[in-house]
This record gives sequence, C-alpha cells and structure tokens, in this order.
Amino acid sequence: MPPEKIVERTTKRRISLGELREYTNGIATVTEDVVSMNGTVLLPRGTQLASLMSSVEDLEKTLRRWGIFSISITLNNKLNVNELEHMLKNAEANLSVIDPQLARQTVTQVSNVYGRITDGVCKPEDISRLAEQGRNLAKEVAQAPQVMFCLGQVRSWDEYTYVHSLNVALLGGFLASRLFPGRLELMESMSMGGILHDLGKARVPQEILNKPGRLSPEEFEVMKKHAVYGAELAVENSVTDERVLSVIRGHHERFTGSGYPDGLEKDAIPVEARIAAVADVFDALTAQRVYKPPMETRSAISIMLENMEGHFDPQVVRTLLTSLGLYPPGTAVELSDGSIGVAVGARGNDLLRPEVLLQIDRTGRKVSDMRIIDLSRTEGLFVERSLHDTGKLAF
Ligand SMILES: [Fe+2]
Repeated sequence: MPPEKIVERTTKRRISLGELREYTNGIATVTEDVVSMNGTVLLPRGTQLASLMSSVEDLEKTLRRWGIFSISITLNNKLNVNELEHMLKNAEANLSVIDPQLARQTVTQVSNVYGRITDGVCKPEDISRLAEQGRNLAKEVAQAPQVMFCLGQVRSWDEYTYVHSLNVALLGGFLASRLFPGRLELMESMSMGGILHDLGKARVPQEILNKPGRLSPEEFEVMKKHAVYGAELAVENSVTDERVLSVIRGHHERFTGSGYPDGLEKDAIPVEARIAAVADVFDALTAQRVYKPPMETRSAISIMLENMEGHFDPQVVRTLLTSLGLYPPGTAVELSDGSIGVAVGARGNDLLRPEVLLQIDRTGRKVSDMRIIDLSRTEGLFVERSLHDTGKLAF
C-alpha cells in the first residue's frame, strides 16, 4: 500500500444565517465567539455546527433578535489522496479514457518483447505485433477529445520502462494529433515509435538500467547507446517506417544540439523525434520512481520551460501546455465556494474552467455520489486554487 497522502486545507468564511442549516451537515466550526450586545456569549468559538443540528431554528431566532445576521466559520478539510484516486478509478466509466485492457495488454507485450530481446529469442513478428498495438493505441488517442485519465500507472518497480513506453506512445500520439490535425498516419507512427522508443534498453545491462540515482559518466555512455541499439534492433526486426525509426534513434536529441546520438540541432531533428523528446521527458518527470515521488504536472512543465530551456521544440512544449490546461486532470482544486474536487478534464478548450469531480462540498461534507461539475457551465463558480496534483498524467 502506498503511504497515505493527505492534503489539508483550512478555510474561513462568513455565512449568512440562512445558510446555517445547510452547514450543520458539515464539519464547520465557529471561528470566533458570537456575542450579544450585553456581552453574553451566544455561540462560543470552536462550536461544531453539526452539534447544533436540533437547535438550529432556535439559535437562528436568537441571533436575529440580537441583530446578528452572519457568523464566521472555519472549515478544516482533509483530503485523502488515496481515497481520491480510488474515487477516480470508479469514475473512469464516465470519463473518456484509454481502454484499460488495451493499456494493460500493451504493457505486458512490451515487457515480453524486452524479455525476448534480452534472451536473444525475439522474432520479427513479436516486434510487428507491438507496432500493431501502437496502431490500436493511435485509434484510441484519436478518439480522446483531450488529455484524460491515463491508466499508465506504474504498479511495480520493474514495470517502469514498459509503462513509460505506453505513456510516451499515448502522449506522443496525442501531441502529434494536436500539432498536425487529421494526419492519422503520423499519429500511428508516433504511437508505434513511442512503444518502441526505448527498445534498445533491452541491450543495456540491468544494473545500469535500474540503478537508482545518478549514473557515473562511464555508465551514462553505455546507457546512451540505447538509442542506436533500439534503431538497429527495429531494423533487424523488419521495422521499415522511417518515422518510427526516427523516434527510436532521435528521442534524446535536443533542440540545442546537446543531445545524442547524433547531436542534431533544431529542425535537423525529425519532427517525430522532437515530439517524442517532449513526451519522454514529461512522462519521466511526472512518473513515480523508487527514488523519487511523482512531480506535479505544472512543476514538470515549468522545469521543461525554464531549467531545460531550449532543449525542446517550443511549439511542441506549447502544445503540451495548452493541452493540459492550467488544471491538468488529476489536480485537486478548491473552488470559489470552498468545495474541493479533482479536475478531470475540460470541455472544449477552456483551460481555466475544467470539469471537476466533487469530493468535498462547500460545507465540508464528503460527497459520496459521483458529482461532476462543469465549471464552464456553472455561473459564478471557479477554481480558487490548486491544492495538489496526483502526479498522474492522463488521457
Ligand atoms: Fe530513451
């Protein structure tokens, strides 16, 4: 079981007496003593509104009599991220997601092919089956209106490379569809290339591949060879699509010319490789590894824009940024009425007003049913702030 992640959020606000009844169902407490004009404490600080449920009518009358029409309350919301993720899983049926079976199948197939390469028993049909899987993924991605919840979660340490391959295929295909709408063949090549991009790692010694933390300069030189190994392996196994081969060989090329294996610069890098580079680094940053927690989506993007400035094709990074929006799916958000939920996507291109799966309502009460609020259609309700990003990239 992963450790429990709790997001805590304390909010204070004034509510009118008319709202008092609704809040007796929640977790609010009274922020400061409510005192009558003659100094009598009518409602002491710290009182839980829930404890007033039976006497709320009398209390309301008393307060009105003293000319008090609003009170200050405090909400101490605790959001359990594990619960939230569980809820998201249940919500998947209603969300646009990549077919979970296809995702699982892909991860297993990638893992099998890597195993066969390592054992020296890989056959061309194994690779072509994997490439075919890329085509199926492209079809799924083509149907996804936007980035939504992805199932490409790493469940075990060993799985990382395979799940990462799936994610690069999904995100690469998605970015290609945004950058070059209508070019299905490019999307297909991107998805196939994504699945195969790290194929060459099957020829890199395990101890280097799975070393937690930094590699020594010598180890890094060995690791770098995976781009060339991968392209060679693909050709040996009858992969002829030039775009797929460009993804495999060129996904570590950098716009600045500082990448490998060929040190190509800017437009000299095939566009497929430029897209794959963005998908690859973004997924690596947002993935959870044994030695690091997942990075929040927005932090990953800002690192790519600032710390790695110039490394990536700016048009591709921009596309990633606008596709994810300001509140990428998986971001826990607090709304302007104090309710808390998780962004699950956005209709159309409204990056500021996502759809939010409500988790805690404005009175601080847990929402047990599946309630999705489309902020683009809800007058006066907006995202106040983002609280936490579950760190999972999504389709
Ligand atoms: Fe790679």
